[in-house]
Amino acid sequence: MAIEVVPLTEADIPDAIEIIQSAFAEDPYFKWVFDANNFNKARNHDSLAVRCRWGIDNAIFQVAKETPPYPGDNGDATTAPASRVVGVSCWLPPHAPSEPESWYTWSQGWLLSARQALNNLRHWGRGGLRTNRYWIWKARQHEAQSQIWDDPKGYYFCNIVAVRPGTQGKGIGRKLFEAVTEKADQEGVKCYLESSRNEPNVQIYEKMGFEMAKEMECRDGDDVCMLYCMVRKPRSKY
Ligand SMILES: CC(C)(COP(=O)(O)OP(=O)(O)OC[C@H]1O[C@@H](n2cnc3c(N)ncnc32)[C@H](O)[C@@H]1OP(=O)(O)O)[C@@H](O)C(=O)NCCC(=O)NCCS
Repeated sequence: MAIEVVPLTEADIPDAIEIIQSAFAEDPYFKWVFDANNFNKARNHDSLAVRCRWGIDNAIFQVAKETPPYPGDNGDATTAPASRVVGVSCWLPPHAPSEPESWYTWSQGWLLSARQALNNLRHWGRGGLRTNRYWIWKARQHEAQSQIWDDPKGYYFCNIVAVRPGTQGKGIGRKLFEAVTEKADQEGVKCYLESSRNEPNVQIYEKMGFEMAKEMECRDGDDVCMLYCMVRKPRSKY
């Protein structure tokens, strides 16, 4: 199976969304922050589409593409698509805390919020998002990052990583990670992620060089969601 990791394009967005929605369907954070009885998949789709378009210009949004022959194909090269998306990742580039946010970054963030507000109007609400829990998570995340992020160069922040169910465990996640961790190694910059699953994800990320930095508890009454904050130090080849 030949896999290449390339920047997300407009044409890849439908596949990227399908992968994110299917890979995260059973995710503990997703189940905690969304009310399953009121979950609106179309609203979630439109929210992810806005995020993807923002990411093309403002983040390191990449897709892993597989080229034919695909497993299970009848080998008919005329009907097989030239390539298909099997994984997606979104990383925020490092930002030195001493540097103020640029006007461009600020305006793009504002535009993202405005487009999400339009989605709220179009879909009559937030599609089952429990906003109180969203803000609990944001507050815990702010605390955790304030404690952990002490490097003046900033951190590559892995925001989303998802591999198409059925193709997981075949090295695609590693390829998506290495597309950024190799750059981080060359630049001597640390990487950071928050995993919403302990098993098997923490073990998977340890294999990519991440180490546990903090176990973050998001609590809403008796309903708790744990997130695992992990940091990867740059590696030198020499
Ligand atoms: C987590 C995820 C992105 C990893 O991608 P993947 O393609 O399945 O992972 P890979 O096949 O590249 O495996 C990477 C490493 O982890 C190991 N690994 C994979 N699955 C594992 C498992 N279930 N248990 C232990 N180790 C595992 C592999 O052996 C490999 O190590 P190696 O290269 O040293 O042999 C993918 O499984 C996924 O999308 N999961 C569902 C969504 C999700 O949880 N996203 C992240 C939310 S924080």
